[in-house]
This record gives sequence, structure tokens and C-alpha cells, in this order.
Amino acid sequence: MLKSYFNAKKEKVLKQDIFLMRKKRGKEYLMCGIVGYAGSKSISNDVLIDGLKALEYRGYDSAGAAVLQQNGFLCVKTKGKVSRLEEKLRQKKIASSTLGIAHTRWATHGVPDEHNAHPHHQGKVTLVHNGIIENYHELKKELQKEGYVFASETDSEVACAYLDFLYRKTQDKLEAMAQAIRSFRGSFAFGILFDDDQEHIYAMRRNSPLIAAVGEEGNFIASDVPAILKYSRRYILMGQDEMAVISKDCIHMYDKDKQEITYEIKTADMDIMDIQKGGYEHFMLKEIHEEPKVVMDTIRAYLKDDIHSLQETLPDLSAYEEIHIVACGSAMYAGMIAKSLIESKARIRVDVEVASEYRYKDPIFSQHTLVLLISQSGETADTLAALQLAKEQGIDTFAIVNVVGSSIAREAKYVAYTLAGPEIAVATTKAYCTQVALLSMIAFHLTHIHGYVSIERIREILREIDQLEETLEGMMKDRQYVEAGKMISRYGNVFFIGRGLDYALSMEGSLKLKEISYIHSEAYAAGELKHGTISLIEKGTPVIALATDEQLYEKTISNIKEVKARGANVILICREDFQVDRDFYDYRISVPKVDVFLQTIVTVIPLQLLSYQIANLRGCEIDQPRNLAKSVTVE
Ligand code: G6P
Repeated sequence: MLKSYFNAKKEKVLKQDIFLMRKKRGKEYLMCGIVGYAGSKSISNDVLIDGLKALEYRGYDSAGAAVLQQNGFLCVKTKGKVSRLEEKLRQKKIASSTLGIAHTRWATHGVPDEHNAHPHHQGKVTLVHNGIIENYHELKKELQKEGYVFASETDSEVACAYLDFLYRKTQDKLEAMAQAIRSFRGSFAFGILFDDDQEHIYAMRRNSPLIAAVGEEGNFIASDVPAILKYSRRYILMGQDEMAVISKDCIHMYDKDKQEITYEIKTADMDIMDIQKGGYEHFMLKEIHEEPKVVMDTIRAYLKDDIHSLQETLPDLSAYEEIHIVACGSAMYAGMIAKSLIESKARIRVDVEVASEYRYKDPIFSQHTLVLLISQSGETADTLAALQLAKEQGIDTFAIVNVVGSSIAREAKYVAYTLAGPEIAVATTKAYCTQVALLSMIAFHLTHIHGYVSIERIREILREIDQLEETLEGMMKDRQYVEAGKMISRYGNVFFIGRGLDYALSMEGSLKLKEISYIHSEAYAAGELKHGTISLIEKGTPVIALATDEQLYEKTISNIKEVKARGANVILICREDFQVDRDFYDYRISVPKVDVFLQTIVTVIPLQLLSYQIANLRGCEIDQPRNLAKSVTVE
């Protein structure tokens, strides 16, 4: 049947291979999903919608498709869910045909709306894009001089126009694509249609994933295997800077010099959910493992080569004399970390309050109050209401949000985004981690502008930040928590204790454990223990003690002795360089010594892994704990 496949070597691929291949491809944006179909049957709409639905795990905020109709390609786009796109295709009477491309978008440049949604169309080119074209500003200026007008704020529309520009110039599709590959900086996976070709999908990629796939009734492109599993198990991984030309019965691959290349057809041997989770058993575990990358992405978005860059990338915070941090759940606990750092290091007063309380308490503002909202989703109803309350009083608001263009991001005076990417597990891990990372950078910045940090220390912190990704990667491999986790999983009550920053972090550790394992858990300021909670300590009760602060750890050790004397099972999480007598703990988890501005980002990892392991041992629904929702958009 398909001649060009005869040379191709078939290969069985294990689940783990897929994950490894993804990692090997380096910097990737696991956001946005692409599907394309060139076939012999008029089933485009089913293929595209099924494909996008299978890619929903990547997270997205808008969707669109371009489908071949009698008068050429027709684009339909919508904000929101794929099911809405499906409905719109029906309403607009877009019939299924033999050729089409589709896309789910996670906003990075411009808010999620129909203008910014893909496919984009310019001249003779229609395309969908995953990735970021870093030099799109320069290209846009060039294209505007040539008379191109843009309907969206996206880098993707610029790429579309640029490809059209090159196609007009060269009159050769492959040549235009090859020249675009040479001109584009950044990452991209493109699915492309040309108005004067109703038989082929064109594709090319660098740094963003893209596969081509071979089916009985046609061929496909997709961001990932799940998108096409319903129709085919046979796929080709496109290499770096490679181009593909795909028709109903042929797939041709080219390198960036337009030389045709041979390829391997691999056979997927896995179930859809497994692949979506990148080989991990749960989204939560996958998301914990993404932390080294997303933490660095977030830090690097604000802190460039030197500390002064924070002045340019963050709003001017120099005049505020007090900060009200308002948030819910883990975001509020990230706020507790910020309070501890900002008060102790930058000497600015910070109050942290849960949004549901704050919005009804008639807060006391001054002229110099900043209200800082923290939210992964940007849609949490109480946090949004607190923001609106502050705005009505004429108070400056600053939002730290993960979802671009969300309500909180739109309404706040200032916004800074965390770059955690879409988070699927209900209990947050990587989003919390990026919140802490960004808040720590804000604390670092405030400490600097208020003159409380020396040049030498700044240099040292910057050096540690350079090594942070490696440090975090090391933590992912560390298994010190495993034995303690086995022990804790057998108990029904757990206590977390700590002082200062460790106390702030222990609140998140405790929340994580109870959310997903259903073990009752409380976090206590270590010194407060003897004023009540100690009466609950019995023989065997697990007490997780955090001690990473040089100034305070000896005090915490005294508190550990108190619970140990009453029979507690002590799990000590402390810095690797602290010498602690073996009699005072049952299990020790050592964490690397880093500067205090970075310590929480490092120490939270064993806490998350521990909770995950305990919940797993207890057979809990880890990604969707009972009664909890990812985004709480009602009061
Ligand atoms: C829910 C989630 C938590 C999250 C909280 C705040 O309770 O389960 O993981 O921390 O909402 O959500 P936000 O989107 O505002 O960060």
C-alpha cells in the first residue's frame, strides 16, 4: 500500500521510552495540542475533535480547527473547551472532509480569546503552532513594512505571515518552510495548510514535540501519540528541524536542507492515560518531576543575569510599607513563606489572610498598602472578590497567577505569571513550587532595594540559582523518605512542626498529606506544641519535624525531644550539614544547604514525595481526591 513505508523499520516502543524520548528532546512546552488529518475518508471533524480531546491533559484555554470545504479551508475557533468547538463546527455546518488541522491553545502571548486562538490565517497560509517564536517582534516589524496586518497578539500569527511572505517570494512550499526554519528562533511545532494545495498537510518542528502517524484511512500529525491512538498505533517521531509533507497515502520527511530522509515507524504499545502521564503513574508525580524545569522557567522569566533585572521585570514595589497577601489553600501557604522571608529579610510588614475571611473583614488599608493576590487558576471566587474589594478602595493590587488572561490576572493592577504550565492533579505541587519561587524572588528583590543584602551575598545567591535546577533534579532521585512513608501510612494522625520558615512550609506539607491520603494532619509552630497538641502524642504518633533554619533548628530539636519522650515516631527533615544526635529521631531526611531565599523550594520536594507515596500506599485516588476541586469558582 504505502510505498514509502516499505523501508521503514518497525519497532515496539515501551511506555518508558516515550517518556525518555520526550526528555531527550530537551526544552519542551507541554502546552498546546496539535492534530491534523489527511485522509481518504471524510472524517476530518471526528479525527480532529477526538484528537484534541485526547490532548486535553496538556491543559488549554481555547481551541480551533481549519477544515477543507468546497470553497477552501474554513476556520472555526472558540474560547474554552473542545466540546464547544465541536458544537460550533456543527452550528456552522462545517462538514467533515478529507483534510484539516486543529489546535488547543494554552495562552502565552495574549489572552485566551478567539483572535488569539489557532489556526491563524495569512495570505495563502493557515497554520497551528505549539511553542514560542522568540524573534517574532523583529519579524513582525519586517512584515508590517510589507503590508501585513495582524488580528492577534500572538507570535504564531507572525510565523504564519512570515511563511506566507516566504512562499510568495519563493513560490516553493518546501523552500519557504526551510527558510522559515532558518529564520525562526525558539521552539515550534507547526501544522500548515496552503490554500493552493488541498491534498497535503505540511509540518515542521524544533524543540516542541510533533509526530506523524500512519493510518489505514489516511495519515496524521499530532503533538503526542494519544491524539491518534483511536485511529492508528503507528507513528514517526519527527526530528529536530525536520519537515514533513503528508497526504492520504504518503508521508515524506525532509531535513532542513530539503533532503528527503528515511524514517522509522514505531508502534505504540501503551494505553492512552499512561502516555498522557509521561510514563508516571499519576499526574501528581509527573508534575512534581516537572518542578526543576518550571521553577527555573519562572525564576528566569524575572531574574536575568543580575539582580537589577528584577527591577525591570517586576512592578515598582519600593513605596509600599505593608503588604496584604490574600489567597486560598496552598496559594495562601505560599504566601506564608513570602511573609516569613519579606518580614525577616526586607523588613516590610506582611499580613497573610485566607481570601474568604479577608473579603468580609473590612480590612484596614493605608495609602501604602499593596494587596498581593496569589492564585494558580486565577479564577478562585474568594480571591477574586478580595481583589475587587481592594480595588474599590483604591488600593494597588498585584496578582501572582499561573493562567494567562484569567479573571484575577485581568483585574489586578499588576500581574506576574508563574510558568508552571497546566496542572492537572487537583492537589497542587508544581504551581505551588513556582509560586514560592516567584515570591522568593520578590522577597530577594525587596531585600535588595531596601538595602539589606550585601553585594557578596547577592553574588552567592545568584551562583546558587545557577545550580538550582541541578539541586532540584538531585532531590527527585533521592529516596530517603521511603521508609518513613511506609511507617506513616499505617497511622491515622500526623503532626508537622517547625519554626519560622519551616513552620510556614510545614503547613503546606500537612495540607498536602491530608488532601491526598485522608490522614488527619496538623501543622504546629514547634514552640506552641506544649500548649495543647502535645496531649495528642501517643506511642508511635508520627511527628514530621522540619529544621532547616540555622538560627532556629536547635530550638526545634528541643521540641523534638519533648515529643520523642512521649513515644512519638520522629521524622526529621533537616539540612544535610546539621549534626543531630541519632537518639532524637527515628528517620532522617537530609536536604541540601542552600541560601534561605531558596531553601523552601528545595525542602518542599521530600514533603510532596512523601505525601504522594503515603497516599499511593493507602490506595487513594491521588489525582482527584474526594470532595476537592481544582478550581473553586464559587464561594
Ligand atoms: C483549591 C485547590 C488547591 C488550591 C486552591 C486555591 O482548593 O484544590 O490546590 O491551592 O484551590 O486555588 P488557586 O487556583 O486560587 O491557586
